[in-house]
Amino acid sequence: MKIFVTRRIPGDYLSLLKKEGHEIEVFSEDRPIKSEELVLKVKGVDGLLSLLTDRVDADLMDAAGPQLKVISNYAVGFDNIDLKAASDRGIVVCNTPCDEVNEAVAEHTWALILSLARRIVEADESVRRGGYKGWEPNIFLGTSLIGKTLGIIGLGRIGSMVARRAKGYNMKVLYNKHEPDKDAEKELGVVFSSLDDLLKVSDFVSLHVPLTDETRGMINIETLAKMKKGSFLINTARGPIVCEDALVKALDEGTLKGAALDVYENEPNIHPELLGKQNVVLTPHIASSTNEAREKMSQLAVEGLLHAFLGKKPLNMINPEIWNTRRK
Ligand code: DGY
Repeated sequence: MKIFVTRRIPGDYLSLLKKEGHEIEVFSEDRPIKSEELVLKVKGVDGLLSLLTDRVDADLMDAAGPQLKVISNYAVGFDNIDLKAASDRGIVVCNTPCDEVNEAVAEHTWALILSLARRIVEADESVRRGGYKGWEPNIFLGTSLIGKTLGIIGLGRIGSMVARRAKGYNMKVLYNKHEPDKDAEKELGVVFSSLDDLLKVSDFVSLHVPLTDETRGMINIETLAKMKKGSFLINTARGPIVCEDALVKALDEGTLKGAALDVYENEPNIHPELLGKQNVVLTPHIASSTNEAREKMSQLAVEGLLHAFLGKKPLNMINPEIWNTRRK
């Protein structure tokens, strides 16, 4: 089978595909492939290993041709893929959820919470600028976590791992999702809350929902206005869940005391006013960027292709309902 890989990925897993006799082409440049380049590269391929920076829509699938059978997305999120278009065409789609990624994102979420609470980035910058003149009682006063409320929006795998870690800080944890999750409540000691109540009382609000039509723009002027005065917002999920203009306003008006973002509304562009704010921590979509997670993602993305081509339903198939009617 012919497979196109849109960027070099960590580890040596692509060699497994070669060993099986598949013909692999990896985009040769170390940058996201442009859509006009991708449309040419996919012509005639049977499999595509895509990244979250690649838009995989119906036009791209049709440009590839009727032999395209598998799209394996090197990410947990798959909002870059038109899943319905793939299913309509009988194309198998897989992703790379695994504990390594989930734990890495949960860890990064906590790195951001702690950076905000203890003003780590501001303090680091000040020291580097020569600002440390000796101990002072009043510099970089932070916010203690003990007894504070963490509101988790989306208690899936990652949200649950974030909640588990909150115990160690003696925080109260509220969560919001479609339905209360009694097992999680028992295991993690979390309390179900409506979105409005969660926003009203949480000192830290962390987002762990996928990007869908329902969650796009979920954090906007109205929802930000409901947040507790002086609270913090953390987003390690997907950028377009937060309306950045509204976030800037909430920070300017003091509704929010700070925000930490790993993802952006228009990646890789960042709202210029966020860049200038001391109370905002920004990281470049690296929540899952540990050696362990990225290696595992490579393994899973490759296994998705390998298994599908061997006629074995991939473990991480996102559209399993089309397995029996898939393109062969
Ligand atoms: C994912 O897997 O969806 C992450 O955002 C990529 O690191």
